[in-house]
Amino acid sequence: MSYADSISPEFFELEREAIFRRTWLHVGRVDQLPRSGSYFTREIAATRTSVLVVRDGRGEVRAFHNICRHRGNKLVWTDFPREETSGMARQFACKYHGWRYGLDGACTFVQQEGEFFDLDKDDYGLVPVHCDTWAGFIFVNLDRSPPQPLREYLGPMVTAVEDYPFDKLTECYGFRSEVPANWKLFMDALQEQYHAPIVHRNQRPETFEAHKGGFEAPHYQIDGAHRMFNSPGIRPWELPEDQIKPSERLLRGGLFGPWDPPEFHSETLIDGMRPGGHESVGVALFEIWPNFGIQLWERGWYHTYQHWPTAYNSHVFEWKLYFAPPGNASEAVAQEMTAVSLKEFALQDDNLIESIQATLGSAGLTAFPLGDQEVLCRHLHKTAQDWVAAYRSSNH
Ligand code: FES
Ligand SMILES: [Fe+2]
Repeated sequence: MSYADSISPEFFELEREAIFRRTWLHVGRVDQLPRSGSYFTREIAATRTSVLVVRDGRGEVRAFHNICRHRGNKLVWTDFPREETSGMARQFACKYHGWRYGLDGACTFVQQEGEFFDLDKDDYGLVPVHCDTWAGFIFVNLDRSPPQPLREYLGPMVTAVEDYPFDKLTECYGFRSEVPANWKLFMDALQEQYHAPIVHRNQRPETFEAHKGGFEAPHYQIDGAHRMFNSPGIRPWELPEDQIKPSERLLRGGLFGPWDPPEFHSETLIDGMRPGGHESVGVALFEIWPNFGIQLWERGWYHTYQHWPTAYNSHVFEWKLYFAPPGNASEAVAQEMTAVSLKEFALQDDNLIESIQATLGSAGLTAFPLGDQEVLCRHLHKTAQDWVAAYRSSNH
């Protein structure tokens, strides 16, 4: 496989238009917009766009370009115009000359309107962005006319997990970091298990290999531009006493999640999680094209990954973990233990990715051999290359 797509500034310039301006991008969850007037902004560096996502007066989730129609000031921001923000509003007022907009994007007030020569406010509403939700996940599409509605875009493999009780898992932990590497390189590290026994050996129970297949994935699948794989379900509480860190045993949580599942746990192992039908499945990672991963665990919690490119050799990585609201302090501590353990896991990958970016391209190598467990890496890079090639041929 060639990594030319990860070391080329020109290729990234094409990815902006060919991929990020035409795909459905996950920007948040409906839980972030609990009431009419709740809003948040997202800065999408790959398309040089700021998006305002808001729940309007009728309860609909809508998205707009975050730009004032008067002279282009960024409309919604708090302390620093380049930073994302969130809150509650009855309307949005521009900080420059005070034009105002309703939650539905309509322009409602123009300062000294009479000086504007027959200006019709109806012509100056916020510019809408296509926005839709699936299973409580909010997506936007910056294409003026997206070729497919969201559900069709996600396809049957992804939508098969919509019965997972996402709406009950509202306790959210998250972190984000700037990673000096191409966005696809980090995704590669999350969509193969070949590296796990080496990179993560100190976080792995010694008997893991023998325990239901260890890190080896029993099933991989692709559906159009999306991909998924299953991993075995690890049950640390079933391992011998000396195989588990004392802190995990004490706090009843760790790398494989909180040990005590929520009471609706029996609803969480749904068929869509294991499309190959393998009995041993405990985890399913769905990578939704282009940059959003949802990892579902059989015991009632999940986490998401997102990779937002900022240049050919850098991106912002966001990781969010979702649990049932804890019923007591010990459940809360088990969730924190899970969040901290997973962060450690991600940092182990992160270290390597930076050095890969630095050396790729340095020795004149144009092809690298990938094994069977790395089939999803191959699919990601091929998909990116195909989309860029299609964009090029339609524009030249
Ligand atoms: S730029 Fe917004 S009111 Fe002038
Ligand atoms: Fe890893």
